[in-house]
Amino acid sequence: ALRGVVAIDGPAAAGKSTTARGLALLSGAAYLDTGAIYRAVAWAVLRDGLSPEGGQVADLAGRLDIDISVDPSLGQQVTVDGERVEAQLRSRQVSEAVPSVASHPIVREAVHQIQRNVIARLVASRGGIVVEGRDIGTVVAPEAGLKVFLTASDDERALRRSRQEGVTTWNGIMAVRQALLRRDTRDRNRAVSPLAKAPDAVEVDTTSMTPAEVVDRLVSLADERG
Ligand code: C5P
Repeated sequence: ALRGVVAIDGPAAAGKSTTARGLALLSGAAYLDTGAIYRAVAWAVLRDGLSPEGGQVADLAGRLDIDISVDPSLGQQVTVDGERVEAQLRSRQVSEAVPSVASHPIVREAVHQIQRNVIARLVASRGGIVVEGRDIGTVVAPEAGLKVFLTASDDERALRRSRQEGVTTWNGIMAVRQALLRRDTRDRNRAVSPLAKAPDAVEVDTTSMTPAEVVDRLVSLADERG
């Protein structure tokens, strides 16, 4: 069984969720999707009609009551001020707002605190956890025993996300591609804990790999690290 933290970072639609879930399942570890927590804050920003860039986001982040539960059978559940929001986190509006919301230092501080609590709780109860995000290997869990930076070509990522969203037209795929690249640029260029490969992370280019191949590769990397 996997011990401690495995950090999986990388740009949007590189295969982080599929791989992290598969590795967690195969190794009996817990799984945490950290993007969902930033999405939950962005959802609340939209709920309150605030501008994602504006200073009011910081005040809101201080007031929000966000709760994460990671039940092995139900998957990850997120509640914001008592409301279950999981089903609403993948909307276009939330995806568009989240990089701005996630660039506020106070938001990141609050979300990092939530993540560290969840990680500590699950390492204690389950022994190991696979955590996916943008800054896990660099900032959230620099002590992780295995750090993976997952990538795939821009075209491949655009096709994967389009397939996921049921988009099949050329114009649709190009729009998905543009939105993905814009989000990555904003995630890479923010001042506080940007999307970055940790110096000691193993980069895995998944462009011409199947999901099963990526999971198998990570299982063997995890085995090597013991
Ligand atoms: O992984 P996902 O696409 O759901 O992440 C949504 C957004 O949340 C990212 O584009 C990024 O702006 C933010 N995020 C972050 N740090 C993380 C995970 C996600 O800033 N560790």
